[in-house]
Amino acid sequence: AAAEKGGYDYFMLKEIEEQPRAVADTLLGRIGDGGRLQLDEMRMSESELRSVDKVIVIAAGTAYHAGMIAKYAIEHWTRIPVEVELASEFRYRDPILTRDTLVIAISQSGETADTLMALRHAKEQHARVLAICNTNGATIPREADAVVYTHGGPEIAVASTKAFLTQLIACYLVGLYLAQVRGAKFPDEIQDILIQLAQAPEKVRETLDRMEPVKELGRLLKDAERVLFLGRHVGYPVALEGALKLKELAYVHAEGFAAGELKHGPIALVDQDLPVVVVVPPADRPLLHDKIVSNIQEIRARGARTIVIAEDGDEAVVPFADTLIRVPELPTLLQPLVATVPLQVFACALADAKGLDVDQPRNLAKSVTVE
Ligand code: G6P
Repeated sequence: AAAEKGGYDYFMLKEIEEQPRAVADTLLGRIGDGGRLQLDEMRMSESELRSVDKVIVIAAGTAYHAGMIAKYAIEHWTRIPVEVELASEFRYRDPILTRDTLVIAISQSGETADTLMALRHAKEQHARVLAICNTNGATIPREADAVVYTHGGPEIAVASTKAFLTQLIACYLVGLYLAQVRGAKFPDEIQDILIQLAQAPEKVRETLDRMEPVKELGRLLKDAERVLFLGRHVGYPVALEGALKLKELAYVHAEGFAAGELKHGPIALVDQDLPVVVVVPPADRPLLHDKIVSNIQEIRARGARTIVIAEDGDEAVVPFADTLIRVPELPTLLQPLVATVPLQVFACALADAKGLDVDQPRNLAKSVTVE
């Protein structure tokens, strides 16, 4: 088993480190010359792609967080309305689907029962179903009309890491492809995003190279009983994912909130015993960015330790950050690719410092094949 872990203490650490390669593999062969996307495996004709009038993303757990991020990206690039729903809820609602609805089922394993049932429900309503999956030939891609594989390689640790980043890449590719075929609203921005996306493996690599202080922070906070995660826009699902990782691995009560909701409740929880992790959007969206900076001030004024994740060169956060974690610059919509990494490393380090089994947390399964 030690050999399988490639010298790492845990599969999770190995899989975190594999992320630059995994992300590169998801991109491989999909961005053609002149920035044309090749995504023939979506198996939809141009006229079918043009007639899509609604996208619904269904998923569970970490894959659901990838879906939440996909909504921001796909709506912005294509102007098609996107809903994201927990597969376990979707199935028991009475969702409105037509032949022009594109349902995207995201699943690492391709075997999650909730997601599979939701997919079957969508097919019964004649929606078109695209799977984003990491496991070749699994049930979900077999039953879907089409599949975009993430090619992330096997993920062994129960807590999902590289699968999440590769799901994000696949979602971005699908959104950009829809925009390309349908005629993008912001063609220059799309071209720029493609260039930035091609650099994602490098940016994730750079992020990983800076993780020593994050591991230290995990050890330092090993006795924390609760941790709050805040983010805005795509930083919000990143905050949810950071909180999920900490719950799963370290059994710490962690919650993720949209930063704008702070004043509507969670701020009542803030005191000197509550570390608060804040995901700060890049300065390319000044409105988003400045609002978060004032949230950090509010938290700090109440004595909480602020752990701030911000891009290189963001000086505005410096005075209010007890711990500052720098990530490389990327456009806002792509920032989750780097901002999530420190949260994975943090949860892993904290759980390890508590002496817990990082790869096999209690009560959890890698793939949940019962509803
Ligand atoms: C389980 C795993 C999670 C995963 C979720 C969805 O709960 O513990 O890590 O995110 O299932 O799995 P899937 O294979 O459908 O992505």
